[in-house]
Amino acid sequence: MRNLLGTAHLSKADALLILDTAEDMAATQQREVKKLPTLRGKTVVNLFFEDSTRTRISFEAAAKRLSADVINFAAKGSSVSKGESLQDTAQTLQAMGADAVVIRHPASGAPHTLATSGWISAGVINAGDGTHEHPTQALLDAFTIRKRAYGVDSRGRDLAGLRVAIVGDILHSRVARSNLWLLSTLGADVTLVAPPTLVPQDVSRWPARVVYDLDDAIAQGPDVLMMLRIQLERMNAAYFPSEREYARRWGLDAQRLAALGADSIVMHPGPMNRGLEISAAAADSAQATVLEQVSNGVSVRMAALYLLLAGHTDTTKEEQR
Ligand code: CP
Repeated sequence: MRNLLGTAHLSKADALLILDTAEDMAATQQREVKKLPTLRGKTVVNLFFEDSTRTRISFEAAAKRLSADVINFAAKGSSVSKGESLQDTAQTLQAMGADAVVIRHPASGAPHTLATSGWISAGVINAGDGTHEHPTQALLDAFTIRKRAYGVDSRGRDLAGLRVAIVGDILHSRVARSNLWLLSTLGADVTLVAPPTLVPQDVSRWPARVVYDLDDAIAQGPDVLMMLRIQLERMNAAYFPSEREYARRWGLDAQRLAALGADSIVMHPGPMNRGLEISAAAADSAQATVLEQVSNGVSVRMAALYLLLAGHTDTTKEEQR
């Protein structure tokens, strides 16, 4: 695997390879000595132009558990504030010996540009770009769903027959897009649930049905209810319902949680707006997998770094299409 830029063009075989490799990594994390020597001598650069808690720290933990050296770069406090370009920033880090660059950027397409421009020779992993893709979030979500559905027998299995409802700010969500593509590739049945103003215009071309009423979606008995963060920082007040209205109509409260099947799981990529898209009762319930997702994220990112820096699969052509 040369780069991991998105899930839209990730084949089913490569998605399953990453998930199964993550199973191997998760098994090593149960041992007393968690650290593996696999990436000794390699350098991973975390290049973050947007804030992050989970993604940045779990990539750092993943790289360190594979014995790689890690350089953390945050745009805030760097020479980006003096006008330095993405090209010059990336080439500066490459000159310090980067073998892989994990990039989060507010501009959709920035990781693709970095991977295909010829500016650097390091492999590139997209850690979230604009409203476009967040592939490792989708992979850790799929890993979590598969683990909950099939337990120790999950290796090699896809998600055929599972029903997933993705709820909330679809319009601005790279998590929703990466999940939609990956879940569809893995055979899951996906429903999008949102106010009409938070559904993208091109949604009719997406492999999902759209419903506008959360109670109707819950009545269909989904196996997974994936709540999305309302991205207030990207919201235009002209088309967002009031927060009170949103919480009342599209928030997962205790009553809606009770209406979900007891075997259904509640997911959220974090960070959560408690009391807006999800109540504390739902976020802290036994059905919630929020912290499980975070733990699984380390194993999935270990798998991605391993396949990028030590594996032999080549998905570059598919990713660059
Ligand atoms: N889920 C997610 O991407 O969280 P962070 O923004 O904290 O990385």
